[in-house]
Amino acid sequence: MNTLSLNTEYLQKFVNDTELNGIHEELLRAKKTLTSGSGRGNDFLGWLNLPEELSPEIIDNIKSDVERLRNRARLFVVIGIGGSYLGARAVIEALQSEFAAMQTNGAYPYIIYAGHTLSEDYYCQLMQMLDKHDYAVAVISKSGTTTEPAVAFRIIKSHLENKYGKAEAANRIIAITDARRGALHDIAQQEGYRTYVIPDNVGGRFSVLTPVGLLPIAMAGYNIDQLLQGARDMRKLCTESDSLTDNPALLYAAIRNILYRKGYKVEILENFVPNLKYISEWWKQLYGESEGKEGKGILPHSLSFTTDLHSMGQYVQEGERLMFETVLSVIQPQGKVDIPSDEKNLDGINYLLGKSLTEINRNAELGTILAHNDGGVPVLRILLPTVDEYILGQLIYFFEFACGVSGYTLGVNPFDQPGVEAYKKNMFRLLGKPGYTN
Ligand code: PA5
Repeated sequence: MNTLSLNTEYLQKFVNDTELNGIHEELLRAKKTLTSGSGRGNDFLGWLNLPEELSPEIIDNIKSDVERLRNRARLFVVIGIGGSYLGARAVIEALQSEFAAMQTNGAYPYIIYAGHTLSEDYYCQLMQMLDKHDYAVAVISKSGTTTEPAVAFRIIKSHLENKYGKAEAANRIIAITDARRGALHDIAQQEGYRTYVIPDNVGGRFSVLTPVGLLPIAMAGYNIDQLLQGARDMRKLCTESDSLTDNPALLYAAIRNILYRKGYKVEILENFVPNLKYISEWWKQLYGESEGKEGKGILPHSLSFTTDLHSMGQYVQEGERLMFETVLSVIQPQGKVDIPSDEKNLDGINYLLGKSLTEINRNAELGTILAHNDGGVPVLRILLPTVDEYILGQLIYFFEFACGVSGYTLGVNPFDQPGVEAYKKNMFRLLGKPGYTN
């Protein structure tokens, strides 16, 4: 079937049916709290119905902006931080070639990122690149006042205006922000930029299926209709079924909460295909910001295997027993490479002849899971039939829905992030921002 599913075979020593049945009612109450909008943070539930309710006009506008800009820009700069860039990057990097940056004449621009760092060297190197290539920009900020993207946009806007003149620069800028408020909203109005709105009731880390994620993903040449279709199909499964067997989001939330209560305080999201690295980065924000509060919450961590088996594998196998693993397990690759035969067999790997790289990788995955299980680590597998837009849409909605249910089961408000403000106040005071000095 072309649907993601959970495999709990390697959890059996750690989570039993009695425990799952025991938490089921709690999970159903949390699901009801989420879907009825009766819990804390209920003014940020717009993401629940996005796949169904996103207006076709927005999709058409995104597609027409892609057609308008794609032949005029070799590079497309996405300016944003946290929830205003991680979702787009996660999908784009999952789908694109690892070597996409080397392709000089693609049909769509190559996406690069800014506003997620304050490193001077990063911007120096970026400007050198923007000197050489035609480019366009999406500046994304829900509040419209976040320092990192504001600094990046001021630098890049000035570069763009110097390169193309003010009128053409304005044609190459798209602003994605609040409908009514914020500095970015005001700049976009005054300069006449093309704008898209981030709905009031969708928080940053749940915004990938709004123009925040859809515009950059479409600009990179990927099929946002399929992405939304995947999310729609997963939404149906997550909202309609109350069964732990049929509803993967309920089962995932149940397993996480059972393990957390037993002292497994760290969840490591793992992949065996490097393209999924930024899915982990997006997931870490989603779960870290949603659950890490009030002195509670599973610490989300991530590793890419087999690469990290040669660095962190030792700790997972024999270090302190505080983690469980969730493996993103891809069944069907998109490409094919044969291992050539070699008569001399000096490297001793002729025994692999006739096996695909995927088969070898799958055995590395199973070998790892069995070893970690023996070392006392519970392992859950999320089986992905393949990595395409449709499956990624499913995965996004699955993680979002499970996050809401899991957060309410933990007893926190999964939709606020009060802790993110603390560093900003100190930074503003240290930099002498008006209103923040002692
Ligand atoms: O999830 C969140 O709310 C945050 O990570 C924000 O996305 C991030 O701080 C960027 O905020 P903004 O979009 O307002 O610039």
